[in-house]
Amino acid sequence: MPDGSVPAERFPRQARRVELLGPDVLDDPRYLVPAAPSGETGLAWLRARVPRFCDGAQHRRRRAAVDTLVAGLSVAPAPGEDPTPALLRALDLPAACAPDVAVVAAAYQPHTRQSGGADAALERLVEACGARDDTTAARICLLVQAHGALQALLEQRRSGLPGPPVPTTRRVAPDGRTVEVDLTGAPFGRGPHACPGRALTAVLVP
Ligand code: HEM
Repeated sequence: MPDGSVPAERFPRQARRVELLGPDVLDDPRYLVPAAPSGETGLAWLRARVPRFCDGAQHRRRRAAVDTLVAGLSVAPAPGEDPTPALLRALDLPAACAPDVAVVAAAYQPHTRQSGGADAALERLVEACGARDDTTAARICLLVQAHGALQALLEQRRSGLPGPPVPTTRRVAPDGRTVEVDLTGAPFGRGPHACPGRALTAVLVP
């Protein structure tokens, strides 16, 4: 994308009232990730079960599950292969799920454009995983987070543009304001939500 932003972590340029802070904020426990409304199906179901949209003990529990999943992955992309089918293979899922991963990744952040199509794509991924449970949520979470960030990295390599592939993230400040956080100098984030896919990135997009 022209501004270097990416679907899975995309934060469209906000009006100037959204303050841009440095990455130190990511180490400050008073700044929380924006919460996402819960739901029984679709993207709302996913967001309510992944580490990306919660903090504290709930985050530690969900994050441990994701870390365990990442640690057990054996990823072996063919030279030049798109990273999403390679990750699907490592998760024992069909490469044919890749288009659904892309659609879900584009709607992952709650403030990006939502659609019935994205919710339907999520439901197909749940079906491919075989159960509507926390393990499925962790697998889909890995797929969509990786897809958005890695496609941004590939696009950045093509364009030669400088800066982090995911330029910003968001937090809610102690006074309730939503702030943007500049990831310059911290491309994989920092603190409890720091990216668990950093080592895998080097394997998937060498
Ligand atoms: C170019 C490659 C990548 C970049 C630049 C990147 C960047 C980031 C950043 C900045 C965050 C933190 C967001 C925040 O604190 O608000 C994050 C979180 C995350 N990333 Fe990555 N990522 C990349 C690749 C991957 C890959 C390959 C995976 C999975 C295999 C992955 C999975 C995740 C997950 C699950 C989280 C949420 C962690 C949590 O909330 O505790 N990422 N990523």
